[in-house]
Amino acid sequence: MIIELSPIDVDVIYTVINQAATAYKRVIPDDRYNEPYMLIHELAAEMKSITFYGWKEKGQVVGVIGFQPIEDVTLIRHTYVLPSYQRKGIGTRLLDHAKRLTKTKYLLVGKWKSASWAIDFYQKCGFGLMPNKDELLERYWDIPRRQIDTSVVLGISI
Ligand SMILES: CC(C)(COP(=O)(O)OP(=O)(O)OC[C@H]1O[C@@H](n2cnc3c(N)ncnc32)[C@H](O)[C@@H]1OP(=O)(O)O)[C@@H](O)C(=O)NCCC(=O)NCCS
Repeated sequence: MIIELSPIDVDVIYTVINQAATAYKRVIPDDRYNEPYMLIHELAAEMKSITFYGWKEKGQVVGVIGFQPIEDVTLIRHTYVLPSYQRKGIGTRLLDHAKRLTKTKYLLVGKWKSASWAIDFYQKCGFGLMPNKDELLERYWDIPRRQIDTSVVLGISI
């Protein structure tokens, strides 16, 4: 079941993100990986502009997706499923939900270049690699140069 999360759910979202993000260890550049991967105050600040949805199973939120309309596009931010719930279709269902909500022409997601499974996941869900990724990352994201250089953008036309 998909539910809309609110600022009071920040701890739940924090737990899902940081447990799932351990997959990045030794995959993304070392200087960009920290444990926890995301700090709670960073998440709380981002939640002012991102709406999170969660997949709930037996009363527990086991997957999350962030949805952020910005200018003429919508960004997917922070899609994470708890490790023991991965590869069961939860990520796909969360992404389908985001596609249904999107009112802009494009839905975009930024990913670490080296996280090949995440790129596979989005490609399987119909996204394609955007050729103008630096331009997109500079325009719609607020991330350091190092992250722009080590990331790709995937997009789908809605
Ligand atoms: C990436 C992630 C969000 C996908 O969620 P999920 O619920 O596991 O995904 P689904 O079960 O809907 O998978 C759909 C398809 O994506 C691809 N995929 C998903 N996880 C994959 C993996 N670890 N390796 C290779 N392909 C993968 C597969 O093609 C899969 O279909 P299949 O299981 O029939 O082969 C989740 O695995 C996750 O949180 N991973 C760790 C953190 C992360 O990388 N997050 C950012 C990515 S957006």
